[in-house]
Amino acid sequence: MDKILIRGGIPLKGEIPISGAKNAALPLMAASLLTEETLTLSNLPHLADISTMARLLGETGVEISMNGFAPNGGHTGRVFALTACREGETTAPYDLVRTMRASILVLGPLLARQGEAKVSLPGGCAIGTRPVDLHLKGLSQLGAEIELDGGYVNAKAPKGLTGAHITFPQVSVGATENLLMAATLAKGETVLANAAREPEVSDLANCLVAMGAQIEGIGTDTLRVQGIERLHSADYAVLPDRIETGTYAAAAAITGGSLELVGARAELMEAVIDALRESGVTVEETARGLRVTRDGQLRGVDAITEPFPGFPTDMQAQFMALMAVADGASLITETIFENRFMHVPELCRMGASINVHHQASAIVRGVSELSGAEVMATDLRASVSLVLAGLAAKGETLINRVYHLDRGYERLEDKLSACGARIERIKG
Ligand code: UD1
Repeated sequence: MDKILIRGGIPLKGEIPISGAKNAALPLMAASLLTEETLTLSNLPHLADISTMARLLGETGVEISMNGFAPNGGHTGRVFALTACREGETTAPYDLVRTMRASILVLGPLLARQGEAKVSLPGGCAIGTRPVDLHLKGLSQLGAEIELDGGYVNAKAPKGLTGAHITFPQVSVGATENLLMAATLAKGETVLANAAREPEVSDLANCLVAMGAQIEGIGTDTLRVQGIERLHSADYAVLPDRIETGTYAAAAAITGGSLELVGARAELMEAVIDALRESGVTVEETARGLRVTRDGQLRGVDAITEPFPGFPTDMQAQFMALMAVADGASLITETIFENRFMHVPELCRMGASINVHHQASAIVRGVSELSGAEVMATDLRASVSLVLAGLAAKGETLINRVYHLDRGYERLEDKLSACGARIERIKG
C-alpha cells in the first residue's frame, strides 16, 4: 500500500487549481440513469470514487465515453458522456457499493425510470452507522414497494412513482438528492421539505433543470418538483470543490504561507472563510478565485458543524489540525456524524493537545509546534488533516492508508509540492 512522506515546516507559496467537486460529481453521474439520451459532464475530478461510480453505472446499463479534458477556469477537468441506453440492468452489487456509500444514489433514478432497482445496502462505515432509512422512507412515500433481503434493497414501482409531500425529519444530503432525482419522473407534484441546501444539491437540481426537469426552490430548504414523462440530454459543468478549497486554505494557514486557490468560489464556503478570518487568516477574493495568507499568529476559534450554510462536517478534521497550533483554546463540536474524531489520537501522537468529550466535542489547546510521526487514518477528511499537520510539523511525517486520500483529493502531492511542500508518495 502506498504511503505519503512529508518533511514539514515550509510555508506554502504559489497557486493551486481547484478541481470539480466529488460530492457534486457523484449524484450528477447517477442522474444519467434518468434518460436514454446522453448526459455530458465536464470538470469531473480524476478520483477513485468517480471511477467506482463509473463502474457501478456500467453495471446498470450506462455507456460512458471519456471525451478528454475541457478548459474550465484556467485548469482542466475530465469530460464524460454518459448514456443509459440499455434498460433492464437494475442491480448495484455489494462489491461496488461497499467501497462507496454514495452508490445508494443510483436507487432513486433506477426506480423512477425502470420501475425497479436492487441495490446492496452500504453497510458499516468508519464515521458512524450512517443508515439509509430516510432514502427508503421517502421512496416508499412516492409509492415504491421496498423489501430488504439478503443485504439488498429490492425496490419496485411497476406503475411508476407518484408525487408526494415529504418532510425529512433530519437534513440529509444523499436522501434529498435521491428523492429529487426520483421525483423528476414521478406523476404529479412532489414537495421535499427540510431538504438539504448544500451547493452540491443545487448543482444536481440545476443539471436536472438543464435535462428538462421542473424544479422550484433551488437553494432553499423546500424543493417543489413537477414530474414529467421524460428527461433529455444536457451538457453540464461540475461546480468547484469547496472542501478541497477549504483544505488548501487550511494548508496555507497552517504553514504560514500564501496560496491563490484558482477556480475557488467564496459563496460556497462562507462559514469556513469566517472561521479562518476569525483565527487571523487573510482571505481575499481575486479575479481567479481566492487568496489565503497567514503572516501573524493563529488564534483559537470555536466551530460547530451544521448542515449548509453552517460549518461543514467535511472540514472539521482539517480545521482541528489548524487549531492544534493556534494561540489559545478552541471548542470543536460535531453535530452531523457520530464517531468523527478518529483523527484526534493521531494528531495527539504528533504533539497536539486535544480532549474529546462524549464523542461530540473536542477541546483543542493550541501548542507551539507539532512533531512528525508515523500516522494513519480511517477516513478521507481525517487523513488529509494529518497531511496538514505534517506540513506544519517539525521533522518527518509518514501517512499510511493513502487510498483514503485518493478517494477525494486529485493529485494532492503534485498540487502541494508545486507550492514548495516537501511531500512524496512512496509506492508500496
Ligand atoms: C454527504 C457527503 C459527505 C458529507 C455529508 C454531510 C456525498 C457523497 N457525501 O454524505 O461527504 O459528510 O453529506 O454533509 O455527498 N442519515 C440518516 N438516515 C439516512 C441518511 C442520513 O440517519 O437515511 C444521517 C447520517 O447518518 C448523518 C446525517 O443524517 O448523521 C447526515 O447524513 P447525509 O447528509 O445523508 O450524508 P451523506 O449524503 O451520506
